[in-house]
Amino acid sequence: MAFLTWNQNYSVKVKGFDNQHQKLFDLINNLHDAMKDGKSNLVMGPIISELVLYTKTHFRSEEELFAKFNYPDRLRHVSEHTEFVRKISAFEAEFKSGKMGLSIDILNFLNKWLLEHIRKTDKAYSEFMNKNGIN
Ligand SMILES: [Fe+2]
Repeated sequence: MAFLTWNQNYSVKVKGFDNQHQKLFDLINNLHDAMKDGKSNLVMGPIISELVLYTKTHFRSEEELFAKFNYPDRLRHVSEHTEFVRKISAFEAEFKSGKMGLSIDILNFLNKWLLEHIRKTDKAYSEFMNKNGIN
């Protein structure tokens, strides 16, 4: 069974963002598999970098629409993104310098953060986006 499985309960009612969230699930699953299979840091490093990069790309897409439509909860939502990017970038740097390895604690943190963020923070924009013609 996959570490993270997307289902309709995680839908934010915006197709493009649901697709991006599914790609984040895939990347976290790839990382989980690599760790479980005892893959080396040389294999895990690029997956971590891709996850950090794609997370930033995804947050930028959401934030562009927040700005475009002047989403009321914009500042609080963006600050959650900023804090998460700060944490995963710090982990990426520690991993690359060999100071820290990948652990189940890190994977659980990614899993929990993403699910909570989608369920509480992202889902809060569904109605607003739909009203602005974004589906
Ligand atoms: Fe978000």
